[in-house]
Amino acid sequence: MKTEEMQTEKTRQTHASTASEAVASIVGSYDANAPLAEASTIPAPWYTDARIAELERQTVFSQSWQVMGRIGQITKPGQFVTATVAGEPIVAVRGQDGVLRAFYNVCRHHAAAVVTEACGQASILHCPYHGWNYGLDGSLKGMPEFEGVRNFERIDNGLVPVKVETWEQFIFVNLHPNAAPLSEFLGTLIPRVAPLGLGKLHYFTTKTYDIACNWKVFVDNYLDGGYHVPHLHKGLNSVLDYKQYTIENEDRYCLQSSPMVNSTDDAATGATRKGDRAWYFWLYPNFMFNCYEGYLDTNLVIPLDVDHCRVVFDFYFSDLSESARAYNEESVAVGNRVQDEDLGICEAVQRGLKSRAYGAGRLSVRREAGEQWFHKLLAADLKSALTPADR
Ligand code: FES
Ligand SMILES: [Fe+2]
Repeated sequence: MKTEEMQTEKTRQTHASTASEAVASIVGSYDANAPLAEASTIPAPWYTDARIAELERQTVFSQSWQVMGRIGQITKPGQFVTATVAGEPIVAVRGQDGVLRAFYNVCRHHAAAVVTEACGQASILHCPYHGWNYGLDGSLKGMPEFEGVRNFERIDNGLVPVKVETWEQFIFVNLHPNAAPLSEFLGTLIPRVAPLGLGKLHYFTTKTYDIACNWKVFVDNYLDGGYHVPHLHKGLNSVLDYKQYTIENEDRYCLQSSPMVNSTDDAATGATRKGDRAWYFWLYPNFMFNCYEGYLDTNLVIPLDVDHCRVVFDFYFSDLSESARAYNEESVAVGNRVQDEDLGICEAVQRGLKSRAYGAGRLSVRREAGEQWFHKLLAADLKSALTPADR
């Protein structure tokens, strides 16, 4: 190396190590061991610094089981669903042999997306760019005009596989090649959810919200133990027995639950949110599902960049018959209203997190144990990512 090149390399290394020291100091500034009564939230830069978002993408989202679709989308051979997970294009497809597989949706020729629809059915995966064909098992089947190319083995040029598993109504993928099985990741959530019989519900519709806030702001809002409900969601508040609201943290999930009361205060909410209890599950890091009698909605929070996220709501009902349509639509509209109320506040919080007036906030012991649980799980992942032994 010439002297100038060595200088440049040294400067580059110095910048890199200064940057990683800055990230380490931001991550290290959260005290995960404080008891709830003394704890603070994760500090504001965790929500506003693009380097933290990138660290999360490379660790949290690339190493956890991520929901990418519904099993109802891939029941028949050839059915597929695509998604972006940790910024990576992914496709899951059921083979002719009935096996569900997932792959990076990246052509081995010149990297185009092979499958371009959100979901559908195909007998072969056909790249739209130069027409390479892949089987439903990811194997490369054919390449037009490739005669004479030497040292090229079709067998080495199949789509790159990704781990995929299913649980209840959901398809999960994990980009980490050595990820532990999904059942281990879910832990005691599996027996906790089983009695609710989610498999009996049917998918109805999807609503998508793009929100100008960090993905964690939306999750925090969800995990505040109903703290905001009486203030922000007057309609929803009328059907919940707010004083009896419970919060349980275990493994990688939090269950918030509340007995239901009959309400005439808000007719639409009273009519569409029924049963003995409301069940609000959050699975680390970014998936929630909410159950009432004959009702399920799921919320998948997808980070877009440090201060934007997309939340995908899927609604399921027990009765999809034509006579239930108006009721189901009313129920979705009630969900929409709650969502709009949350959306505005999440964007206000993101603006506040950027203010020089704010560093971190304290937590309500009665209400905010779930939020602290989230912050602790996240801090453990980010801290272990920065520990050289784990690299
Ligand atoms: S990029 Fe897919 S065939 Fe060329
Ligand atoms: Fe809310």
